[in-house]
Amino acid sequence: MFESLRGLGYAPATAIADLIDNSLSANSSKIDVQLEWAGPESWVRIVDDGGGMDDAALEAGMRLGARDPRAERAPSDLGRFGLGLKTASFSQARRLTVASRRNGGPTVCLRWDLDLIGQEPGAEWPLFEGPAPGSEHLLAPLDKMEHGTVVLWERLDRIVTDGFTATDMIELADRIEVHLAMTFHRLMDGQQPQLRLLLNGRPVKPWDPFLIGHPGKALESPEYKILHTTGVTVQRHVLPHRDMLKPAEQEAAAGPGGWTQQEGFYVYRNRRLLLAGGWLGLGDGGKPWPRDEAHRLARIRLDIPNSVDAEWKINVLKSTASPPVRLRQQLRKLASETRETARRVFAHRGHITPITGMRSNAVAEAWQVRRSAQGTSYRIARDHDLVASILNRAGSLKPDILALLRLIEETVPVQRIWLDTAEDKETPRTGFVGAPANEVMETLSSIFEALVTYSGLSPIEARERLGRTPPFNQHLDLVADLEVKDT
Ligand SMILES: Nc1ncnc2c1ncn2[C@@H]1O[C@H](COP(=O)(O)OP(=O)(O)OP(=O)(O)O)[C@@H](O)[C@H]1O
Ligand SMILES: [Mg+2]
Repeated sequence: MFESLRGLGYAPATAIADLIDNSLSANSSKIDVQLEWAGPESWVRIVDDGGGMDDAALEAGMRLGARDPRAERAPSDLGRFGLGLKTASFSQARRLTVASRRNGGPTVCLRWDLDLIGQEPGAEWPLFEGPAPGSEHLLAPLDKMEHGTVVLWERLDRIVTDGFTATDMIELADRIEVHLAMTFHRLMDGQQPQLRLLLNGRPVKPWDPFLIGHPGKALESPEYKILHTTGVTVQRHVLPHRDMLKPAEQEAAAGPGGWTQQEGFYVYRNRRLLLAGGWLGLGDGGKPWPRDEAHRLARIRLDIPNSVDAEWKINVLKSTASPPVRLRQQLRKLASETRETARRVFAHRGHITPITGMRSNAVAEAWQVRRSAQGTSYRIARDHDLVASILNRAGSLKPDILALLRLIEETVPVQRIWLDTAEDKETPRTGFVGAPANEVMETLSSIFEALVTYSGLSPIEARERLGRTPPFNQHLDLVADLEVKDT
């Protein structure tokens, strides 16, 4: 059975996270993970300063199904199935040694060794007492502790495979660090973090997917409760556009999987991350939303307590969760709103104006999007103040100008824009970003003239209206300089 359970699908990082869960459930505040390269003798060790186990607890803990998954657990318990210690360990190693001590009591130590199970036909339950001969020194950290637990993996046959070298071990340690920094970030954040996590002696720095408190964020909603649940809460976030982040911030904010992999829901159970990104199969018209560039700035934090494990279909690996059907509609709605904000931030490179309020008194948009059964088309608004004023003054040129507008509309390089957006992972530059002030001013003063002389606004009104109109609302200094030209 142990041999079969090896294939549950743990990666080294998820397996280690599962052991850290156990340490946290035992109230550890310092957890020390060490990966030691020694060829086939390589080992992985997790030392925690938690409550530890006595003889009976350790013996129970070493068995499969150590606890009934239906039993109620303490709210801070990260376990559920009574399997993790064994399944996570054997996914990577053939030998598992656990040594523990509770309250200054004696050290107790038990060991599973897959190579020795079934070796002696008549043997009893082959759970050995004590470390493997020659590995005693690896349990030494426990000697100096009042209470705590050491979990040791040896014979790492699923890690140290043919051709695996010291360099691969270093890369593996990096991947594990990234995973732990994300999975346990909530426990390591803040002034007085609950957890100090070390990997090969170095503190793991938490990775916050939400850039909490960043001034460039377009949305950081309050935390609110999901209706008809006990203790499920949500907080919606839209991250700042790339243009509003320093290069180092950008890379850090993207996260281990990159921007699109990391968009969507973040499901936490007792503040431990289960699922990072994705849209939980929610979508429009029965079609799940894919993770795409346009919505990559949306991240939604969902917190669930361990009392809803069965309802949310938590798996043994603690790597997935799936919302109950009755909550899907509610989650879909709030995801949809968050996605819409994220899409607008992406499309306007961070310069978004609220849909209501400010916009109402702005100059009409130059481009109109028309959707019909035949498809979407883009049209230059004939009633835009500048367009209307030019057409009015055009005289005999009017038919030609209309033809020109039509030509522009019919030849918008849609394909090109679409390809470039996909390739650059960024919308092309528009809205005078990076343009010199005099160029902005040329366009601005033409529209200003149109507003004053054609639309009949006072200069003050015209300036005010332009100040509310993107992209000119980014150039209020230029707007303030607008004057009626003497003719
Ligand atoms: N580091 C530790 N400190 C103290 N007790 C531990 C530790 N690791 C495991 N245990 C004990 O061993 C038991 C079995 O652990 P195991 O990970 O197999 O199952 P679980 O945590 O109960 O559930 P899950 O399968 O969801 O992880 C735990 O319930 C706990 O009582
Ligand atoms: Mg566990």
